[in-house]
Amino acid sequence: MQGRSEPVAAEAAASADGPVPADAPVSIGGRRSLSDLPKAHLHLHFTGSMRHGTLLELADRHGVRLPDVLKAAAPPELRATDERGWFRFQRLYDAARSVLRTPDDLVRLLREAAEDERAEGSGWLEIQVDPTSYAQRLGGLTITVELILAAAAGAAWAAGIGIGVILAANRTKHPLEARTLARLAGQYTGRGVVGFGLSSDERRGRAADFDRAFAIAARSGLAAMPHGGELAGPASVADCLDLLHATRIGHGVRAVEDPALLTRLAAAGTVLEVCPTSNLALGVFDKAEDVPLPRLREAGIPIALGADDPLLFGSRLVDQYALVRSAFGASDAELAELARSSARGSQAPDSVKAQLLAGIDRWLTGPGPASPASTQG
Ligand code: ADE
Ligand code: ZN
Repeated sequence: MQGRSEPVAAEAAASADGPVPADAPVSIGGRRSLSDLPKAHLHLHFTGSMRHGTLLELADRHGVRLPDVLKAAAPPELRATDERGWFRFQRLYDAARSVLRTPDDLVRLLREAAEDERAEGSGWLEIQVDPTSYAQRLGGLTITVELILAAAAGAAWAAGIGIGVILAANRTKHPLEARTLARLAGQYTGRGVVGFGLSSDERRGRAADFDRAFAIAARSGLAAMPHGGELAGPASVADCLDLLHATRIGHGVRAVEDPALLTRLAAAGTVLEVCPTSNLALGVFDKAEDVPLPRLREAGIPIALGADDPLLFGSRLVDQYALVRSAFGASDAELAELARSSARGSQAPDSVKAQLLAGIDRWLTGPGPASPASTQG
């Protein structure tokens, strides 16, 4: 099983192990550094972004007994395509979340997430969180949101990246809770909150029950970014479009089962936040080559790669680009295009988008990897 990876080491390992021979021409699977590729990270969960070492340290500090599999150096074996598998994933996720107890814990998590993103070339991060799960310990929902936003702003400043927060309702809880969250989220439009999401098990919470929450968020100017088409099929993606007016969809990969839906997503320019290692870890697809990235791209759908929950899946954003390089033989030009889609699909200010896009062009047109001849002198 794969061990947990630190950002830069992960890329080195992925490049070294990839199938592209060292002397391959740059145009067919070049080897420019993927952590030097500027990008936006649009699909990262709050607890799921935690460093493993931090999880262990905070558990120790707060006297939280973690399940053994969370203490292990390797990420847990998961398969969430049936109810029991999802329940196990959720149980581990909840256990990890329970170590985040004080304002300082949130500050630390965001500081480290920002540092890790910076180290792997993200100039912009959108991190999603359901604040209701922390609110009880931290003194209420509003104070929790304010703490998260202040911590995100501080972490962004210190790391030299931009951070937007997506407040995400849990689709297995009551829709009224989602409406409360949407109202609160709307109060922070333009002040750190950049979107409204919907997470957890698609098979249990129907999009139809959350249309009013999304309408509230939309009235406050927030973009809709629900999960869909991960554990459920294309109908779930269509519901995200029809009922929640999604401009971006978390995962959405199972749209591939419906060609008409692919055409629709492409025509609307809906961004799919594709998280390959998450899909493999949760059993949505059996092997990397089965992730339908090439078909989604051929259909003309903009894709932003995301890591989802590095803590539980053992890999970060650069690993997603490395996987696309190794599984599909993607060229540097194709990887640059994925990075462009992430920047364009983000809620970053135009100036940040422009900076990212210029950096991506420089990455691609600058000197490629040293050829064997030049490294030999
Ligand atoms: N929350 C955290 N990870 C998730 C995933 N992969 N799908 C839905 N909700 C999630
Ligand atoms: Zn997710």
